[in-house]
Amino acid sequence: MSRARARELTNAFLERGDAKGWFEAFYLEAGGDAARIPWANLVPNPNLVSWLDENDVQGVGRRALVVGCGLGDDAEALAARGFDVTAFDISAEAIKWCKRRYPDSKVDYVTADLFDLPAGWREAFHFIFEANTLQVLPSELRPAAIAAMVNCVTPNGTLLVIARGREPGDDPGSMPWPLTKGDLEHFTKSGLKLISFEDFFDQEDPPVRRFRDHYHKII
Ligand SMILES: C[S@@+](CC[C@H](N)C(=O)[O-])C[C@H]1O[C@@H](n2cnc3c(N)ncnc32)[C@H](O)[C@@H]1O
Repeated sequence: MSRARARELTNAFLERGDAKGWFEAFYLEAGGDAARIPWANLVPNPNLVSWLDENDVQGVGRRALVVGCGLGDDAEALAARGFDVTAFDISAEAIKWCKRRYPDSKVDYVTADLFDLPAGWREAFHFIFEANTLQVLPSELRPAAIAAMVNCVTPNGTLLVIARGREPGDDPGSMPWPLTKGDLEHFTKSGLKLISFEDFFDQEDPPVRRFRDHYHKII
């Protein structure tokens, strides 16, 4: 139901040439009920947590940026690892929701548009995390979205992306539109080096094909 409503809103906004407006409308409609937000699992993304564990990632003394942070669980997981975290979302309502959920959080929750980020964020973050945002953007916006994320990574910094995956010949269907490996090539075209690329079916029921890719900004 909630995903069907998200698709209705996406289509209504896209018809009037607005690919960004539906997020705020959708969070407002949810009226504080997370059950109406299909991506809000209210726990950190398990594929982020396993990656942090497997790579023994420690955040002390390092800044992290969470892109399209939704209700904040991934940002809180990174803060719990010691990162100094900034987490942003285009939806002011989502950011208010994060602050309500985590009133004592050390995370700096900010309303911001990926396509118009503060100048001070340029090369300011050692670790950037993005899950499930590229796939809710129309494909023509993805190269600029990726370039904006890459711009925020410090020299020698790391970027981790988790997204739904598909083959180029597969029908992308309706939002969320799974990404192809070609969509993700913009990370390397924007100057990052690919360190690892995983293509797997996740733990959901039914399992969802995911890509998890890890990049460094080499200087
Ligand atoms: C599918 S949700 C994923 C949320 C979270 N990353 C997660 O995995 O649960 C996509 C999020 O990206 C946000 N978003 C979409 N376009 C954005 C933009 N241009 N700038 C910042 N956030 C954006 C939406 O408001 C939404 O919270």
